[in-house]
Amino acid sequence: MTTGDIETVAVLGAGSMGHGIAEVAAIAGYSVTVRDLEEELVEDGIGNIEWSLNKLAEKGQIDESADEVLARVEGTTDLKTAVEDADLVVEAVPEVMEIKKDTFEEVDQYTSDDAILASNTSGLSITEMATATDHPEQVIGTHYFNPPLRMDLVEVVHGERTSEETVERVHEYVESIDKTPIDVKKDIHGFAVNNVLVPFMEEAAWMLEEGETTIEQADAAMVYQRGYPMGPFELADYTGIDISYHFREDSEYEAPPPIVEKTEADELGRKSGTGFYDYEDGPGITYE
Ligand code: 3HC
Repeated sequence: MTTGDIETVAVLGAGSMGHGIAEVAAIAGYSVTVRDLEEELVEDGIGNIEWSLNKLAEKGQIDESADEVLARVEGTTDLKTAVEDADLVVEAVPEVMEIKKDTFEEVDQYTSDDAILASNTSGLSITEMATATDHPEQVIGTHYFNPPLRMDLVEVVHGERTSEETVERVHEYVESIDKTPIDVKKDIHGFAVNNVLVPFMEEAAWMLEEGETTIEQADAAMVYQRGYPMGPFELADYTGIDISYHFREDSEYEAPPPIVEKTEADELGRKSGTGFYDYEDGPGITYE
């Protein structure tokens, strides 16, 4: 259920993370506007929300009908329309600092003085993003995990100038959408989770490069032996191989060649139909 002073949420970016972040807000009762650059992208995002809500409704996993929840979701390509009435803006735009800063700078011109600007970045500096706004105390990280609908955790990342009040309001919000907030008080690259998770995928990719494992072996080992829901390669495909690639930009460590090659070939995993596995004919992963 909605809580505190946040009633209206804007989500910027209707892709795999954006549509999921919007969906969980709508399920919790918030009015949500989803914005992307092109009409087709907005429609795809809302189409994905609709598909998911129908699945949830069929299984009795939401309290309302899919249509009732969907009635709280609007789409637009216009940034001002998306954010001018929002109490909380969550950006899920591409993982490039300049794009994030330009977005926040523009958003800051249209939002009310007490709106919170949250970034879903996987690891970029919240402190730096906040410099693009006149309200750095209201800028914060809310890092969701893929798929937002099913993943319980949200990392709440404090920028150097994020106020206690903003942290409290965001905690209330995250709990109201039935997620668990974990504070990341040091705005370090990769925060808490990705500093552990990306090396997990990278280590498997280095082993692949050295001929020490196959994709299927590494995944089977972690799924069947360790009980993980996905092995490193399936997870890389699921989150997007480019996420791991960008994680190592400007880093002292290099990304493993299989990650670089897949990214440069635009074989990014599920979202592009192929990655370490092929998804053109459905998921079809068998660890043989
Ligand atoms: N909405 C509604 N229903 C959905 C759905 C959705 N979005 N997605 C799948 N379903 C349905 C399926 O259609 C299926 O329904 P059916 O039984 O009627 O066919 C049912 O849910 C089960 O689907 P799956 O078999 O795909 O689901 P699983 O039980 O295997 O779980 C998973 C899928 C939750 C993704 C699980 O594999 C998992 O936890 N994987 C690991 C994910 C993870 O670690 N994410 C974090 C990545 S890191 C990250 O995001 C950070 C970033 O910064 C990189």
